[in-house]
Amino acid sequence: MKRLDKSSRHTVSFTLNGKAVREEAEPRMLLTDFLRHRIGATGTHVGCEHGVCGACTVTVDGNLARACLTLAVQVDGCDIRTVEGLAISNDRLGVLQAAFRRNHALQCGFCTAGILMSLDSYLRQNPTPTEHDIRDLLSGHLCRCTGYTPIVKAALEAAEELAGIKNSEKADV
Ligand code: FES
Ligand code: FES
Repeated sequence: MKRLDKSSRHTVSFTLNGKAVREEAEPRMLLTDFLRHRIGATGTHVGCEHGVCGACTVTVDGNLARACLTLAVQVDGCDIRTVEGLAISNDRLGVLQAAFRRNHALQCGFCTAGILMSLDSYLRQNPTPTEHDIRDLLSGHLCRCTGYTPIVKAALEAAEELAGIKNSEKADV
């Protein structure tokens, strides 16, 4: 296989979970490999590598994207969010993450990062989802071990908690 020499690399500058990042990537490097192997952000998982399973889901400028279908060079200048950005701090899980933990909504966790990113994005736009809405959203993700019932339960519980937080923030203003 022909190796790309260093001169063919491009500098990619972007924000990752609010922090400025600058790193080099070969023209054909996938965002999944870039995040995991170049940046060391291994929270984004890789399953099918062709856009089907949803494990690699991240947001790019606020829009959900399959990182396995995105080239690293495409995110130059973009705002990227990954599962690492959902935690409140290093030792404090975000609301969605905590709900997943409480409800045993993961086993191997392979699908979890992508599901959390999709739910986080969805709940920002749709804060009061029905069970049907959540199941519809999850149709874009494959979980091979937990089963979807605890995932749906966790998502609905998190939605309720997030709506409560929003309401109390409004009341404080
Ligand atoms: S690894 Fe990207 S969708 Fe499966
Ligand atoms: S928890 Fe294992 S694939 Fe979903």
